[in-house]
Amino acid sequence: MNTQLLPATEDSLALAARLLADGQLVAFPTETVYGLGAHAMDAQAVLGIFAAKGRPGDNPLIVHIHDRSQLEDICEVNENALRLMDAFWPGPLTIILPRKNAVPYAVTANLETVAVRMPSHPVALAMLQRCGLPIAAPSANRSGKPSPTTAQHVLADMDGRIPLILDGGESDVGLESTVLSLVSERPCILRPGGITQSMLEAVVGPVDLAGSILRPLEKGEKALSPGMMYKHYSPDGQVTLIEGAENDVVEALRRLYAHAAGEGHRACVMCFTEHVNALADCAPHDIGHRNDPAEVAHRLFDTLRRLDDEKMDVIFSEVVPPEGVGLAVMNRLGRAAAFRTVQAENVI
Ligand code: TXA
Ligand code: MG
Repeated sequence: MNTQLLPATEDSLALAARLLADGQLVAFPTETVYGLGAHAMDAQAVLGIFAAKGRPGDNPLIVHIHDRSQLEDICEVNENALRLMDAFWPGPLTIILPRKNAVPYAVTANLETVAVRMPSHPVALAMLQRCGLPIAAPSANRSGKPSPTTAQHVLADMDGRIPLILDGGESDVGLESTVLSLVSERPCILRPGGITQSMLEAVVGPVDLAGSILRPLEKGEKALSPGMMYKHYSPDGQVTLIEGAENDVVEALRRLYAHAAGEGHRACVMCFTEHVNALADCAPHDIGHRNDPAEVAHRLFDTLRRLDDEKMDVIFSEVVPPEGVGLAVMNRLGRAAAFRTVQAENVI
């Protein structure tokens, strides 16, 4: 199959709408990451997403809409959901609600709940409006790769597998949406993202955090969100996270890099902008400013993909405090590192 990568124009949006109505797949930009869309009410089309991504069939998809009236056929809406939609839609918040019968089980992976979100990216909204259909869309990466934040990332993973990629530039947030379950007793964050716990609590009161956000699932522990079961966001090389006081971390990165490089590894460090000069001899990859977790979020997946392109096999990374957007960063970075963490003071 020939994959077209087109800027989002009237013509390419019209083409996207035709393809989607015809049951085909279209990759499109959102403010979080790029999505791989299919007509959500067409089970056959939805199964195509799983095939193109190599995604396990038991990992459910998010249904994207541009108008709340579309929810009538999709889910049971409750009071908290309405409040959250008022506050955060369109935007990077996905809400889990009881499903309605029209939603194929291919979308929900046989669950009786469904994930819904209204993205804010103008190209996503324009495409959704044009086709007028609810669109099921996971991130547009091959399963196990970091989510794509540019059209080029999508092309690298999906060339030859889908007919169309709409190019809308770099994704703004850079990490996937916050996934919030409203079917549990209390609202519960299954996946942290750009809409933080405190932002949600300001609207609906106390919100829980799923247990496995900053650690691996324990043996026999059931994932609240099936996506959390899978090895995710993982570069080919081995990532190790370095924690500790700022100066200790920089010194530890220097030593760990020197040791790994001395053993013949293709090694590098992921460090804050402020430390790039001090680590100039350690193949530094700049992840953004130390006090700006949103910038780190924005750059993280591009950096992880670069490490693979450069065939790095040993990677040492700084960390951000797991608060606010930093929680989302550490959820993804932790999984990229399989939660392998070293205390800087033990290395220097
Ligand atoms: O920002 C985003 O959310 C992007 C853009 C394209 O919208 N989409 C995205 O989709 O990240 P995906 O499929 O990569 O992640 C969806 C997550 C998965 O962890 C999945 O298990 C969870 O949402 N999920 C979907 N439906 C669910 C449900 N009914 N119950 C629990 N978790 C669900
Ligand atoms: Mg994904």
